[in-house]
Amino acid sequence: MTKEVLRYLEPHRGGIYLDRTLGGGGHARLILEASSPEGLLIGLDRDAAALAAAKANLADFGERAILRQGNFADMAVHLDHLRIDRLDGVLLDLGVSSYQLDTPERGFSFREEGLLDMRMNPSEGVSAASVLAEADAGELQRIFREYGEERWAGKIARMIVATRDRQPIQTTLQLADLVSRTVPGGRVPQRIHPATRVFQALRIHVNGELENLRAGLDAAWQRLNAGGRLVVISFHSLEDRIVKQFFRALETGCICPPRFAVCVCGQEPVGRVMTRKAVRADEMETSHNPRARSAVLRAVEKLPLGDDQDV
Ligand SMILES: C[S@@+](CC[C@H](N)C(=O)[O-])C[C@H]1O[C@@H](n2cnc3c(N)ncnc32)[C@H](O)[C@@H]1O
Repeated sequence: MTKEVLRYLEPHRGGIYLDRTLGGGGHARLILEASSPEGLLIGLDRDAAALAAAKANLADFGERAILRQGNFADMAVHLDHLRIDRLDGVLLDLGVSSYQLDTPERGFSFREEGLLDMRMNPSEGVSAASVLAEADAGELQRIFREYGEERWAGKIARMIVATRDRQPIQTTLQLADLVSRTVPGGRVPQRIHPATRVFQALRIHVNGELENLRAGLDAAWQRLNAGGRLVVISFHSLEDRIVKQFFRALETGCICPPRFAVCVCGQEPVGRVMTRKAVRADEMETSHNPRARSAVLRAVEKLPLGDDQDV
């Protein structure tokens, strides 16, 4: 969604931007070009491999590109360290990168054999294989239901627990095969692989994706200049729901409980939602990159009066 990111972020000469999901640096490059000659881009990614790729890709921008490894939920720490107080724009392009998906040994893909790791930063937290080995059936069911909206969550969870006593579940194809054997009709070829939702759920759980998103939206909002923009691209309805609710709260300003018929808090709007409807990738992009089909972009602008207000 390159055109759309530039359209809503509107990078300008000399602006300061934060790309909190740097990946290979594709969007970052466009932001640096659009804010030249002196615009600054701070780039964060949890994944050391992504950071190395972005460093090589953005080397020609010299000191205008400041790249760091880190979780975007901790952005304030990085900005404080760099003595950067305010930003003109923040981009969040959520989920996994094509590079991560296409590297079998990272364990994200159910199509190729690899150890079930799934951590965006493999030196932090616990791997998906450890979750499958240690969580009880109730916890596994919750993960698959909550983060994958998987209809057969309980059945799959019980099958994992029954199987792992005989043989540990350590690889992507082992798990994909177990799911296919467990869900009704899982052996029949389908457009969407039967293990898609289980893989998504494990990835979200292992990386704390929804918790990071909630914390990350608020952190970005606190650091935006008046007139600054926050642009978020999400890839599934769980993320998009969080983004939509966060943006709506900025626009209404009201923090009264939903059961109140009339507003009593008197809070003013602090943001202007720029995308009435979710923006989707055009046909040209989806024909080149089928993964873009599930991408949804939303953007919000900080209103001058809301500069120092909290949501
Ligand atoms: C869809 S890719 C971004 C692609 C990038 N916009 C580009 O143009 O190449 C998402 C990236 O976000 C990173 N990521 C996901 N969650 C993160 C988090 N909480 N903190 C930092 N980086 C994160 C992933 O490691 C991945 O590299």
